[in-house]
Amino acid sequence: MYYFIHYTTLFILVCSFYQTDNFLLKNRISKIKIGSFNLRRYSLAKATPTNSVNLHISKILKRYDLVFLQEIIDASNDNRVINHLLNHLHKQSKSIKYEAIISSPLGLTSYKERLVYLYRKKSSHIQILSSYVYNGSVSKMFERPPFILHIKLSSFGQIIFIGVHLKPDNVYNEFRFLRTVIDEFKEQSSSIILLGDFNADCSYLNNAKKKEIRTSYFNEFQWLIDDRTETNLLQSCSYDRILVSSGINHWKKVNWKAKTNGTFEFDKKFKLTKQLALQISDHYPIEVDIY
Ligand SMILES: *[C@@H]1O[C@H](CO)[C@@H](O)[C@H](O)[C@H]1NC(C)=O
Ligand SMILES: *[C@@H]1O[C@H](CO)[C@@H](O)[C@H](O)[C@H]1NC(C)=O
Repeated sequence: MYYFIHYTTLFILVCSFYQTDNFLLKNRISKIKIGSFNLRRYSLAKATPTNSVNLHISKILKRYDLVFLQEIIDASNDNRVINHLLNHLHKQSKSIKYEAIISSPLGLTSYKERLVYLYRKKSSHIQILSSYVYNGSVSKMFERPPFILHIKLSSFGQIIFIGVHLKPDNVYNEFRFLRTVIDEFKEQSSSIILLGDFNADCSYLNNAKKKEIRTSYFNEFQWLIDDRTETNLLQSCSYDRILVSSGINHWKKVNWKAKTNGTFEFDKKFKLTKQLALQISDHYPIEVDIY
């Protein structure tokens, strides 16, 4: 009798789980949540332990269908750090598995980091077309050249993601060179999304230069992370940004859902101490739903 009830309950649970999944699928048929997260020196030492830092990082990452990560420090040639990260994540995300697209170690000094895209493997919405570290005409102008990802979104068409982590001391110049980078995609009838940690605020980019970049270089883009949206836990700065083509000029407009753009304030959402929050990152993830 006891076992009978046990298995019946299990059966009902499994059924309702699948129903919920189907329900979600129906309602999110053509919508995906994209994000960007600077994981603050995510090295082997940080990635290895099964602790609350990695638990919370996993809970954050599983929000996204596609997320671009910065500051992945991994000198191994078998992607040890990301494999740890995926293991933690898959413990939190049992039915949905993620796949990683990982850059080579980037940087002009001995400090190198990898840039990474994580995406939901079996997503019927996202088709990965190609990915590569930018190596066009101005690639030498960057501390870390942009990491490019071409995808096809089922309901929408092609999107080119340009993921960056700009060098703090050289934000103004690198940001302007990004204009050259995107101009090299002029012939493509896709949409463009630039995202990442641009260090585009406070002491790294003053108001006059910020205005110049917006109006003279990226005026046909919508800036989905506002100057007033703080993306940092330590300073009132908007370092992290998402820029999407708005349909003026060469590139197709990116459809994004109003009010889904912003930061995910994990310290407040998970009620974490400042100390634990900062072990996770000094940046908030930034995000938006596109369709
Ligand atoms: C850029 O990389 C691609 C593929 O990795 C290669 O075919 C191409 O020759 C490279 N271009 C330059 C300018 O190095
Ligand atoms: C969302 O994007 C709109 C359009 O650029 C902007 O006005 C708004 O302030 C953004 N929201 C946040 C939280 O940055």
